[in-house]
Amino acid sequence: MVESNRVLVVDDEPRQLEILRTILKREGYEVDAATTTEGAVTQLRDAPASVILTDLKLPGRDGIDLLEEAARLAPESCVIIMTAHGTIDTAVEAMKKGAFDYLTKPLVRDTVVLAVRRAMEKTRLLSENSDLKKQLVDRFSLANVIGDHGKMQEVFRMVMKVAPSASTVVIYGESGTGKELIARAIHYNSPRASRPFHAINCAAIPEPLLESELFGHEKGSFTGAIARKIGLFEQASGSTLLLDEVGDLGLALQGKLLRALQEKEIRRVGSTASIPVDVRILAATNKNLTRLMQEGRFREDLYYRLNVLTIFLPPLRERTTDIPRLVDHFIARHAALAGKALRGIDRQALSVLMAFSWPGNVRQLESAIERAVLLAEGPAVALADLPQEIHEDGADGDVALEIPDTGMSFEALEKALLQQALRKGGNVSRAARLLGMTRRTFQYRAEKFRLSRAAQGDPQLLSEWSGADSEEPPAPPAPDGAPRAPDRERVKV
Ligand SMILES: Nc1ncnc2c1ncn2[C@@H]1O[C@H](COP(=O)(O)OP(=O)(O)OP(=O)(O)O)[C@@H](O)[C@H]1O
Ligand SMILES: [Mg+2]
Repeated sequence: MVESNRVLVVDDEPRQLEILRTILKREGYEVDAATTTEGAVTQLRDAPASVILTDLKLPGRDGIDLLEEAARLAPESCVIIMTAHGTIDTAVEAMKKGAFDYLTKPLVRDTVVLAVRRAMEKTRLLSENSDLKKQLVDRFSLANVIGDHGKMQEVFRMVMKVAPSASTVVIYGESGTGKELIARAIHYNSPRASRPFHAINCAAIPEPLLESELFGHEKGSFTGAIARKIGLFEQASGSTLLLDEVGDLGLALQGKLLRALQEKEIRRVGSTASIPVDVRILAATNKNLTRLMQEGRFREDLYYRLNVLTIFLPPLRERTTDIPRLVDHFIARHAALAGKALRGIDRQALSVLMAFSWPGNVRQLESAIERAVLLAEGPAVALADLPQEIHEDGADGDVALEIPDTGMSFEALEKALLQQALRKGGNVSRAARLLGMTRRTFQYRAEKFRLSRAAQGDPQLLSEWSGADSEEPPAPPAPDGAPRAPDRERVKV
């Protein structure tokens, strides 16, 4: 970063140089001086300046040469050119070559001070901006995505393989496994990294609104469209757009999305004009798209168009060896936010965390830690600081859930786990605890499978549902062993 307070003044007239030095020092700047372009370049190599105030006419290489050197040596600095009357054309040329401002001689004190102040401000904003960008890039660089487990290492290798291209990538994973984090890592490792990353949750927005969110609309195209709206495809042109929960997209919009992907152009709602867009699409889903496609709820052509490259994020319970590092990472993050000095976690608490099944994956682990950090009274996070459902899970002693083998769709897996928990726990509260969820969440999820009466504790239904020959047995694995796509579909870069 450029030092914020340094001005380099370049003039071959010693008297002029001295006057400028005095004026600027009085304004509180650190001032360096040079009488030639060569001298200025040497100084810039030693210590970058935020503002360079240079005479246009210098012996040997002139102010324009210095402007070019400064663009290379100190790209964030602003150059102000001083010219004599009658050399305005050259001043214009200097502006075209990127000078920030020019001043005509004889110089007026206030004009000089004002120009330098404005240039300083500009440099400060520029460097703040590039710091922010760097922070963003760092935050989403793979270095901050934790995963020593082989399955995560495989994910990271895929991220680095797919990042450079503009191809569509589908990221599969249960809720909370880090799909959005991985999408951002792809973007920030791609040639589009300097543009902002865009994301939209397709499950959270009703279809008509979603269409105008994605493609925009013209004023008056429907009741309430009081102004033109530029949609995400246009905003994200040149950048990346994550379509989160893409499995929830309705069939009509799926058709429009396919068209946008194939034609690389969109139409705003209420307009017939096609607008070219260059968007890299990433899609995330916790649903099994193969299954949705077989059920006719996801267009086959869109499925194949999206599924060019795929990344599968493992659930946390399949990589429990990553839990200690994740815990440290989240303790450090949340202790810093809360302004607490915590020395990690004690052994007992950590072993409970490692034994837990984490149905909500990394997101659930992070919120458990966030809460524990706030509650912790000792020097380290202890068992008592963990949410009840997690440490009571240990108290359920011998009751442990068996995780059905993979190859099941996420929905089937979820249902199988709910059933198993209910069977082993014997009642809703205990079942919920076994899964590390609240009673309400358990009921909500069970309801999803039209099992509300069982979830409310109807004993007859309870046994019916939790029995082996239930009316709705856990769905068998999809014929192709979905959601994992066959290898040939996986990477083609
Ligand atoms: N490997 C990881 N290392 C560090 N933090 C992680 C990791 N995976 C996930 N997280 C954190 O966990 C939280 C959830 O991650 P993210 O939002 O990416 O998950 P998701 O799969 O998109 O979840 P959902 O399905 O609920 O939308 C975020 O705060 C994220 O920073
Ligand atoms: Mg998400």
